[in-house]
Amino acid sequence: MRNSTRSKVDPFIVMDVMEAARRAEEGGRRIIHMEVGQPGTGAPKGAVDALTRSLQQDSLGYTVALGLPELRQRIARLYGEWYNVDLSPDRVVVTPGSSGGFLLAFTSLFDTGDRVGIGAPGYPSYRQILSALDLVPVDIQTAPENRLQPVPADFANLDLAGLMVASPANPTGTMLDHKAMGALIDATQAQNAAFISDEIYHGIEYEAKAVTALELTDECYVINSFSKYFSMTGWRVGWMVVPEDHVRVIERIAQNMFICAPHASQVAALAAMECEEELQGNLDVYKTNRALMLEGLPKAGFTKIAPPDGAFYIYADVTDLTNDSRAFAAEILEKAGVAVTPGLDFDAVRGAGTLRFSYARATEDIEEGLVRLAAFMAARD
Ligand SMILES: Cc1ncc(COP(=O)(O)O)c(C=O)c1O
Repeated sequence: MRNSTRSKVDPFIVMDVMEAARRAEEGGRRIIHMEVGQPGTGAPKGAVDALTRSLQQDSLGYTVALGLPELRQRIARLYGEWYNVDLSPDRVVVTPGSSGGFLLAFTSLFDTGDRVGIGAPGYPSYRQILSALDLVPVDIQTAPENRLQPVPADFANLDLAGLMVASPANPTGTMLDHKAMGALIDATQAQNAAFISDEIYHGIEYEAKAVTALELTDECYVINSFSKYFSMTGWRVGWMVVPEDHVRVIERIAQNMFICAPHASQVAALAAMECEEELQGNLDVYKTNRALMLEGLPKAGFTKIAPPDGAFYIYADVTDLTNDSRAFAAEILEKAGVAVTPGLDFDAVRGAGTLRFSYARATEDIEEGLVRLAAFMAARD
């Protein structure tokens, strides 16, 4: 049977690492997972309890396409609590994860062949989803002196219909402050391009609070999720905030593409938003892990790292150690039993010289992983 040309998207290289790690575990080895981009914790207890109660009482049929009204209201209230932004619940759309939000956003904003700028390094699925929609992902090679975030000069002549940013970013964990985010918004709007802000790692920040694009403009799409801070990756629920006059456009697409985000997950998500104490407990673990990594990685020999402002990743420049991050990650897995992600997933040009380390797992795993990495690097000298 035939296939479309736009369906030829690249696989996630990290999946190969995960498969190799699985095989090693099958063979009886204990692998430390620093490749996975998800919390080791499950959904907060209050979320599970709320869903358990709901299962006894509710048939959990379709919800309306924009999401449960109580959840939309609660999300709008979060913007007051976190950023002091007064947001109308009417502008909040509940989505099947932020991944569902990308599909809705790109479909709503762009036409076939439109060029959309994405930072490199960056989350790989932006590029693949854009391609699958017959849009043109345009990699913006970001500079280390800008902490690997785009700046207006990087895309002045790229003829973009849209710009997608992430803060805190994956794989770097770096953030855009008010000034940097404002400059990107101004430059994008001056080019009559759409501004999309992926804020999925908000809530997981260490020194300063992350800035939402909504503090600076209403003319943007903000995409967020219950996957990371709320620790609910597999529940497939997220949200998007769009300008007032885009809500109906999104509603029509959402009705047809998804009907709704999973009802059960929406019930759990609403309750998760009241589980502050447990979620802050998870954050304390990330804080401890981050400190261990920032001390342990340079000691082991991974010296070129920028301290991450948020998320749970450290992106390391390993050009002094290898020019083939995929082979290097395979060697680390084989010899040290630590799974890490080659940078090629995030940056096709420079990723052969980078690795991403995730510290989302339990602190004991991070400690053990660092001991193993140090021994591996010492044996290499
Ligand atoms: C930057 C970024 N955006 C979006 C996603 C997708 O998340 P979701 O589970 O909400 O679809 C991820 C997942 O790792 C991510 O790192």
